[in-house]
Amino acid sequence: MTEGVHTSPTFTPRVFSGIQPTGNLHLGNYLGALKRFADSQNDGMQSIYCMVDLHAITTWQDPADLRHATRELCAGFIASGLDPERSILFNQSQVPEHAQLAWVFNCVARMGWMQRMTQFKDKAGKNTQNVSLGLFGYPALMAADILAYHATHVPVGEDQKQHLELTRDIAIKFNNDYGVEFFPITEPVIEGVATRVMSLRDGAKKMSKSDPSDMSRINLTDDADTIAKKIRKAKTDPEPLPDSVEGLEDRPEARNLVNIYAALADSTPEAVIADHAGQQFGTFKPSLADLAVAKLAPISAEMSRLMQDTSEIDAILRRGAEQARAIAAPILVRTYEIIGMVGAGHNHAPEVSDEYRFWE
Ligand code: AMP
Ligand code: TRP
Repeated sequence: MTEGVHTSPTFTPRVFSGIQPTGNLHLGNYLGALKRFADSQNDGMQSIYCMVDLHAITTWQDPADLRHATRELCAGFIASGLDPERSILFNQSQVPEHAQLAWVFNCVARMGWMQRMTQFKDKAGKNTQNVSLGLFGYPALMAADILAYHATHVPVGEDQKQHLELTRDIAIKFNNDYGVEFFPITEPVIEGVATRVMSLRDGAKKMSKSDPSDMSRINLTDDADTIAKKIRKAKTDPEPLPDSVEGLEDRPEARNLVNIYAALADSTPEAVIADHAGQQFGTFKPSLADLAVAKLAPISAEMSRLMQDTSEIDAILRRGAEQARAIAAPILVRTYEIIGMVGAGHNHAPEVSDEYRFWE
């Protein structure tokens, strides 16, 4: 890898992250992503958050479900404290530069790099011949999402680390191939006690929207009774809480509940243990349930309020897309110039008036 490319001083710090609108937003998404995004609005960096609908269709999505999930995800962002006046919120397909830059990166990334991606291997399983080509190329689109904004910081969960390394490789190869220092070498931001919230039924598995058991996760749309019930029934062991975090080492379920408590309370596992050492789960679980309901019920209520009139959400996404495009469009034009495309600066879509709808 080339020395010197890594720390070009010309890039203004900018945060970008994305979440797929595929439904079932859960506590892991909230603590690992949404809450951290909202908290980092105070860090003074420009921040851009994207509902990545083009990524979602790498596996089959029912169109009506996709529309609903995109709006609900936007509601989840806002209800978690993301302020559309301070952060740019939009859905990916409204900014065509993502797909355009992804094509360029498809021609930069190498087959061998893609074949190493563990998420592809996990998702495709034995079925590699029958999954979509888009699922294989997914990380090039993700690199385009990030680099279309010259984003320098990308907050994600642990599971996305390899994709961010690939994003760096694409930026480095592009810069080398064309003899420029055009794309920044992005830093992953993977921090906090909740980068991996585990299933409530199995402390060795990540809390996930695809787990068949609804009892394994707390959904952001769950009501107070459901939240309390799921915590009461969460798998634990018969021991009381230890008096130090080291005592949690071989107790994944207990550790998970302590971590969730700490993340919800903006505290640390050490402080939670200091307050609850020696407690039985019969005592600790109700405190955790009260805390979870206090923090999550207002989010769930605000999400359903926002979902009652989706025109407000659509307007936020529209305006966010315009702001996003104002950043991404010139970066794509410059990319096209660098690689030798004629007419790069005239790459604007005509307004789509009703006359274009000749098929209706
Ligand atoms: P996904 O739902 O897998 O598309 O993930 C959306 C975001 O939530 C990404 O930033 C993930 O890293 C994060 N995330 C998903 N599941 C968890 C989990 N169990 N714990 C922490 N973060 C998670
Ligand atoms: N691949 C990410 C996930 O599954 C979602 C994503 C798409 C993303 N584009 C991104 C995350 C850009 C960060 C930056 O969670």
